[in-house]
Amino acid sequence: MMRCIVFIFTACLAVGCHYHVEETLYGSDCPQTNLVYEPAVRNLMETHCTGCHSGAFPESGLDLTSYSSVRQAALEGSLIEVLSLPSGNSRSMPPNGTLDSCSIVLIEKWADLGAPEF
Ligand code: HEC
Repeated sequence: MMRCIVFIFTACLAVGCHYHVEETLYGSDCPQTNLVYEPAVRNLMETHCTGCHSGAFPESGLDLTSYSSVRQAALEGSLIEVLSLPSGNSRSMPPNGTLDSCSIVLIEKWADLGAPEF
């Protein structure tokens, strides 16, 4: 039995277990179907975040211009956390306000799916 589970797990790693989410996963208020980095999450980062989180000295040492760095911050939790804080909180991002709720939901759901690139 255990061997069987290990086998399935290994097989899964071998083929990459690629998510392909076409269906709408949540309410009609936020009808996103593209829970992927390219281009949905990247566009949000470029519009709201990379102004400060890029270049030779990104704020907080956090560069948000590449898939790998955004993915890492999303999976490790800090990115989701700062997005969800109320705008009055000193650690809330972006510092001058909050993203609209659908954009936050999109990023949260994307992270829940393991932050796929495409
Ligand atoms: C106007 C500049 C600016 C913008 C725009 C901005 N940030 Fe930041 N960010 C900062 C600064 C400054 C810090 C360091 C805050 C601190 O250390 O208290 C920071 C810190 C962070 C951190 C680390 C928080 C921690 O736990 O230390 C994350 C994650 C983050 N930002 C994500 C984002 C995201 C995601 C966006 C876009 C939605 C964004 N930031 C937009 C300036 C900015």
